[in-house]
Amino acid sequence: MITVEQVDFSYPDGTRALLDVSLKVTSGDSVGIVGANGAGKSTLVNHLNGWYLPQSGKITIDGVEVLKKNLERIRKLTGLVFQNPDDQLFMARLCDDIMFGPKNLGMDPERSAEESEKLLRDFGLWALRDKPPSKLSQGQRRFAAFAAVLVMHPSVLVMDEPTSDLDPRNRKKLISLVNNLQATRVTVSHDLDFIWETCNRVHIMAEGRIVAAGATKELLSDRNLLETNGLELPLRLQG
Ligand SMILES: Nc1ncnc2c1ncn2[C@@H]1O[C@H](COP(=O)(O)OP(=O)(O)OP(=O)(O)O)[C@@H](O)[C@H]1O
Ligand SMILES: [Mg+2]
Repeated sequence: MITVEQVDFSYPDGTRALLDVSLKVTSGDSVGIVGANGAGKSTLVNHLNGWYLPQSGKITIDGVEVLKKNLERIRKLTGLVFQNPDDQLFMARLCDDIMFGPKNLGMDPERSAEESEKLLRDFGLWALRDKPPSKLSQGQRRFAAFAAVLVMHPSVLVMDEPTSDLDPRNRKKLISLVNNLQATRVTVSHDLDFIWETCNRVHIMAEGRIVAAGATKELLSDRNLLETNGLELPLRLQG
């Protein structure tokens, strides 16, 4: 479903954020990307919907190459919930933000309106639908960003730090929501317990490279491997 082949990426100031990154994600898989601050996780996943374009190497989503000319197709396939919801929410009212994507993709307006109502209710945001997203709390904005992506039914759902700002009950709600989705999923998170509960495979990144990949429970219980890469065991394994 996703192939990333030998991708390099440097920012305009010369920071080399990705170095020879390759990975494959099979349809229906749920893959976690973990690593210390600055490891390159966001830079990598922001390539999966064409927010960034590879400077060398190649990325495909369901056979479609991530290139400028394919961006419309790529954005129909991949829904990206950004690390910072402010990168995603910009309309005057929350409800307009949720409907922005479906309108842009030419989806059936009535059906999308029904679904957006359901999502806003599920996320406890329905009463806030006329508020500007900038006036919502952090956690409410996080859920709003989710609703804005889920309403488009992406085949690939990419989430960057989805649990930050969520209270414990909403975090649990997100775990069950995510585990019930059909979409192929890629999750970046420092919340290794969330990764443990929602991902079947994990890639560890350090200094712009993928340094390990494997089954979640195997990698996330390897204390040495985690510590070498600036991480710690998930809380559930810390006793
Ligand atoms: N816009 C930018 N311009 C220049 N350098 C950047 C930019 N964004 C990120 N970087 C640098 O690229 C590297 C990777 O950053 P990235 O945001 O991908 O890390 P990350 O793994 O997502 O970290 P975090 O866990 O803190 O979110 C870092 O060294 C960072 O300083
Ligand atoms: Mg990041």
